[in-house]
Amino acid sequence: MESLNFLTPELAQQAADTLGTPVYIYSRDTIEQRCQEVLNFPNAYGFNARYALKANPHLAVLKLIDRMGLHFDASSEFEAMRCLHAGIPAEKIQLTGQQFPRKHLKEIIDAGVLFNACSLRQLDEFGQAYPGANVSFRINPGTGSGSNRKTNVGGPSASFGIWHDQADQVAEIAAKHNLNITRIHSHIGSGSDPEVWKAVAEMTLAQADKFPAVHTVNLGGGFKVARMSSEKSTDLQEVGEFVKQVFVAHAAKTGNEYKLEIEPGTYLSANCGSLLCDVDDITNTGDDGYTFLKLNTGMDTITRPALYASEHPIVILNDNTETTNYVVCGHCCESGDMFTVDENDNLTTRELNTANIGDLVVIEGAGAYCASMSLKNYNSFPTTPQLLLDSGEFKVIQQPQALKDMLAVEIIPELS
Ligand SMILES: Cc1ncc(COP(=O)(O)O)c(C=O)c1O
Repeated sequence: MESLNFLTPELAQQAADTLGTPVYIYSRDTIEQRCQEVLNFPNAYGFNARYALKANPHLAVLKLIDRMGLHFDASSEFEAMRCLHAGIPAEKIQLTGQQFPRKHLKEIIDAGVLFNACSLRQLDEFGQAYPGANVSFRINPGTGSGSNRKTNVGGPSASFGIWHDQADQVAEIAAKHNLNITRIHSHIGSGSDPEVWKAVAEMTLAQADKFPAVHTVNLGGGFKVARMSSEKSTDLQEVGEFVKQVFVAHAAKTGNEYKLEIEPGTYLSANCGSLLCDVDDITNTGDDGYTFLKLNTGMDTITRPALYASEHPIVILNDNTETTNYVVCGHCCESGDMFTVDENDNLTTRELNTANIGDLVVIEGAGAYCASMSLKNYNSFPTTPQLLLDSGEFKVIQQPQALKDMLAVEIIPELS
């Protein structure tokens, strides 16, 4: 059975009394602790940490992380704009996007946001717009990490970055536009194997040597976080020591001492957030079937279980000493709206406190890729509001969405 992270049953009740359920709750203390752990990453020749804000881009979260001294990695021009809106200095923001900016390029680059080209075409477009500028490029080092195709973002089946043997073309495009390649970047996915980090660090450093102006090597994010008690988190100190030794050995061989950057998303935010909801219904499909625990939240609010078969701890807040094996499902009219499935999409059951309708339920590990990656307004459920737990007090950081706001952008045209 799983347990609560930073909430207590009393705090959960207080949160439910503040905004009702479902509601996301983030812990300021946990965010700050995680930032400190990341800032302590071992390094040999200087270090910078960026927060990959795709994990949780709420303005309040950005502000807290900014105050802890981290920089930011934005995955679209809109995320870069969001950082600027939060008051983050442009020079602390890097843009690493699958899509070249179409709307805000001038606004963000003129402000001082760093550009990280993720394809040869992006590098060329950037060079045409900003000849002579400093720029970074993302390399696909040819290998990846992560438990499946959806979480592995390196190697031949990943479209992210410039393939590792196209460095000559990078150099040609850079020369054509007089660009200065000052940083190089790789991000291979989510895993915790130090050997994979070491291998990718070695490959990325070898690429960096091809560009004399490079001073910083960014190894991306992907540090695994244990959400379930059966999982194991990456030991940042262990991975960091491995990576540090690679940088030191490389410098001894080549004389090139690179500054290290990493950009975790999950590590910083996953266990800083909880989703509080309640039991809406309990049904069953007979003696040979299942008992379904239906929550008043679902894939409109949290997609990781449906998208990645990800497991999140589920804690029923009652004092019941009896347990039941439940299939836990969401409130959307979708057979895919399930919280308990295996990686082959088969239903599984979870042993939980035997529940009553109305019991509060906490879904843990909901701080990363949950609010940010939700299927907002599916089945016209309103967007889930958000609270920040700060020094024992709940602060509303996102209001519940009113139905009128959901409908405000839709237009019924004149119909003949
Ligand atoms: C370029 C880049 N950097 C960093 C991250 C953060 O990864 P994680 O949340 O696994 O740490 C991602 C996530 O997809 C990414 O695409």
